[in-house]
Amino acid sequence: MNRHVKTLALACVVGLAGVHAAVTIDAQATSPQQAVDAAFAKYKNLKEGKNADYIPALAKVDSNLFGIALVTADGKVYTAGDIKTEVSIQSISKVFTMAQVIQEQGLDSIANRIGVDATGARFNSIIAVESVKVVQGAGAPEMNPLVNPGAISATSMVSGGSSDAVWNKIIGFHNDAAGRQLTVLQDVYKSESDTNQRNQAIGALMLAYGYIKSNWQQAVDLYTRQCSIGVNAKDLATMAATLAANGTNPVTNKKVLDADKVPGVLAVMATAGLYDDSGKWLYRTGLPAKSGVGGGIIAVSPGKFGIAVISPPLDDAGNSVRAQKAIADISNALGGNPYAAKKAGS
Ligand code: DON
Repeated sequence: MNRHVKTLALACVVGLAGVHAAVTIDAQATSPQQAVDAAFAKYKNLKEGKNADYIPALAKVDSNLFGIALVTADGKVYTAGDIKTEVSIQSISKVFTMAQVIQEQGLDSIANRIGVDATGARFNSIIAVESVKVVQGAGAPEMNPLVNPGAISATSMVSGGSSDAVWNKIIGFHNDAAGRQLTVLQDVYKSESDTNQRNQAIGALMLAYGYIKSNWQQAVDLYTRQCSIGVNAKDLATMAATLAANGTNPVTNKKVLDADKVPGVLAVMATAGLYDDSGKWLYRTGLPAKSGVGGGIIAVSPGKFGIAVISPPLDDAGNSVRAQKAIADISNALGGNPYAAKKAGS
């Protein structure tokens, strides 16, 4: 990966390392509920962007759907708008399957097999697969588990004797992070399964290049199913808050991920969570985040809060327009940027 992206990745890890002491949001002029309400009011009539339509079921989702949820690292919940309607989690699931592999097999498992470098390309780029192939054997692979090729490979790494066994672990991990039993939106799963030839091609290439060890078809199917899990804004915010609270769901108090695994997960979100717009996002907010083409975005202010917004219309990079704006405003109002360190004692 080019040098400035690597520098950015390092800066993320260093920048995030100092923030774990704070457990709640510091006293701000604006309360979390005021910040959430203000962003909802400001963007509720914004009409920019367009639903994803390369998965036909996503084009049918109500473009007006708009829900915001913020869950603090000590489990307080603040919401505005529609926090009940479920959309498909899509690429946000990549964070939790990556985390599950890291939990099971350690931080090096993902770094050595897939890599933790931004590709600077679109999430389903095949050119990115071809260009990283060239550096195989010359150090760790330069891919990451948040773009489709790396995500399908990460799904293939979840251990289990059968497809059902692997699936039960994947959905179980998502359930624990959300704090409730989630289900697959069958219409989305069918629609994406019928139209995911590009991901099948990516799965086959990842087997050919050694990222997937066997059965790429199973990996693509399970990946498609995990992308079709139904979530509402509160589920997503709780999942984000689990990362903000060092890997323990702050609402249920269930430990999902070891605390020492969380900074690695957040670092990949910071460098690659919004794809080729990750740098712009980080520059404006400082927050590790992840988007999905279903219209959700999660963001994490470590030690402080997790936040999620659902709004289906996307920009050209595949990120929800209203979600980016609302999260940036709310985090800025609450002092969520981990790089904006306070002077000691202030
Ligand atoms: O594989 C796909 O194309 C979708 N299941 C997920 C893509 C996605 O969410 C990209 N995110 N912004």
